[in-house]
Amino acid sequence: MVAQRLEHKVTDKGYVPVYATGVVEQPWSDYSSTDHAVWAQLYARQREVLPGRACDEFLAAMAAMQMDSGKIPRFDELNEHLWRATRWRLVAVEGLLPEETFFGHLAAREFPVTWWIRSPEQLDYLSEPDLFHDLFGHVPLLMNPVFAEYMRAYGLGGLKAVGQGEAALQHLARLYWYTVEFGLIRSAQGLRIYGSGILSSAGESRFCLESEVPNRIEFNMERVMRTRYRIDSFQRSYFVIDSFEQLFEATRPDFTPIYQRLRQCEDLPAGATVPGDVVIQHGSGEGWDAGGDV
Ligand code: PHE
Ligand code: FE
Repeated sequence: MVAQRLEHKVTDKGYVPVYATGVVEQPWSDYSSTDHAVWAQLYARQREVLPGRACDEFLAAMAAMQMDSGKIPRFDELNEHLWRATRWRLVAVEGLLPEETFFGHLAAREFPVTWWIRSPEQLDYLSEPDLFHDLFGHVPLLMNPVFAEYMRAYGLGGLKAVGQGEAALQHLARLYWYTVEFGLIRSAQGLRIYGSGILSSAGESRFCLESEVPNRIEFNMERVMRTRYRIDSFQRSYFVIDSFEQLFEATRPDFTPIYQRLRQCEDLPAGATVPGDVVIQHGSGEGWDAGGDV
């Protein structure tokens, strides 16, 4: 298939991308100098922000992958590193995929990466994933064996959930949101970022650790599945895991009875804390420690 920008259409949900399911070749020689400059600028900015904020696993993987800082990396070169580390590979796509197609890729150890990059006017924000988010945010941790297995398990779990109704898919999507996209992890030095939605955003990389506004709550799987989320602003709550092993173990049980039970439960708002939550106090010494006011 030839790569092209996604079409959009107006529906009752607003202006939404028309899903394209096909895998394409990354049209590498078609990237403009502006495209490469956008990559270089975003990359340089995150390299400033992420030391001391991103988890060590991410920083180590970033170094091991040797992503080019000055121009958009070639997926086939990254695939050599990835394949050696965890047997994953990237596939280029037009943008967001229908759920089942997406789950199928993950289950097959394929990570779909949007081939196009945002425009210079969208450096800080865009409403759909682009190459910078997908590649810089998601791909490095696929070098980590435990995290990579979690992603594959998620894909298999997704394929299973497809037959279990809309509510099950929604509960599962929240797990992805609050772990893969916006998760925080404890380290000996304090809280660190592993969620790709944060790792690809300079503003949220600071906000999630340093602002007093959001809740930081210890990860609890059913709590997460019940929690609504915002897609149009920084998160109001972040959930904190101790390790990727903990996450992998917590999500190992069969979710079928959990989905059934959750059908009876009310959703929780994005910004609230509820009885039973273990809330990490801001400034408890567990947070980001920059030594000074930020
Ligand atoms: N254990 C889940 C199930 O039975 C599968 C899964 C694993 C889902 C990891 C998400 C993450 O559905
Ligand atoms: Fe994402």
